[in-house]
Amino acid sequence: MKKAGVMGWPIGHSKSPALHGFWLREHGVDGSYIALAVQPENLRAELHALPERGFSGVNLTVPHKEAALAMVDSVDDVARRIGATNCVLVNDGKLAATNTDAYGFITNLTTGAPNYRASKGPAVVLGAGGASRAVCVALMDAGCPEIRLTNRNRARADALAAALGKSVHVVAWDDRNDILAEAALLVNTTSLGMQGQPPLQIDLAQLPAHAVVNDIVYAPLETALLQAAKLRGNAVVDGLGMLLYQAQPAFAAFFGKTPEVTPALRAHVMAQS
Ligand code: ATR
Repeated sequence: MKKAGVMGWPIGHSKSPALHGFWLREHGVDGSYIALAVQPENLRAELHALPERGFSGVNLTVPHKEAALAMVDSVDDVARRIGATNCVLVNDGKLAATNTDAYGFITNLTTGAPNYRASKGPAVVLGAGGASRAVCVALMDAGCPEIRLTNRNRARADALAAALGKSVHVVAWDDRNDILAEAALLVNTTSLGMQGQPPLQIDLAQLPAHAVVNDIVYAPLETALLQAAKLRGNAVVDGLGMLLYQAQPAFAAFFGKTPEVTPALRAHVMAQS
């Protein structure tokens, strides 16, 4: 039986067991995917115990994604550039870290907005946390010519831009409305607009009609940002798909079958509290 799971602290909120469990049943795979509550001080030992416990690998979530990079045997290029790993695989008894969040983001975006081309123009990215790093790397790899990055804490955006290169331009958070002019994409990677969080305040007046708007917040599924964008005729993509698509290559690596993201999967994951 193939084994995988997700390590986090706390871990109760994770939708990954429901997501992978759905695919395990759908594909009739002889395998299991479990939630593993791992405190930060135990992460190294828990990761290194995976080979002897017969695990194919694990996903990592808050607060382990950055720390794990220093605890594994190898780190691939995308994880190194993002500065985080959400997926550690056991290969011949060794731990190999990768990151499937950038894949999840870009696949969700291009599936949800098939006419979007990153090369078409600048992208405005709100937020400079962990999710933003994966979004920026994905956009750069897809050929986006310019990323306009804005964050409440400017120093965090400056650090991200310095790590990623010249195509990332930092703009003051207070100027976020004005950088929407000529943008081909607007992405919210902050927690603003999420259930229980403050609203995202932004005026879309200058955003071109052809621009795509993506919110990585998926609770609620249709955020106020997406509602406002839809009302003025912009194509919108919700955030649930990023979660679903990041799991796709992880499942394939853990269990040897490439699963599909379907409406039934979306409904199943949304039904989890
Ligand atoms: P994640 O890994 O999901 O990106 P994170 O690293 O905690 O989570 O980042 C949260 C993002 O939401 C950050 O960009 C944060 O801005 P700061 O770096 O200034 O904290 C942003 N954010 C959270 N609350 C915010 C608020 N009230 N106003 C503006 N930005 C906020």
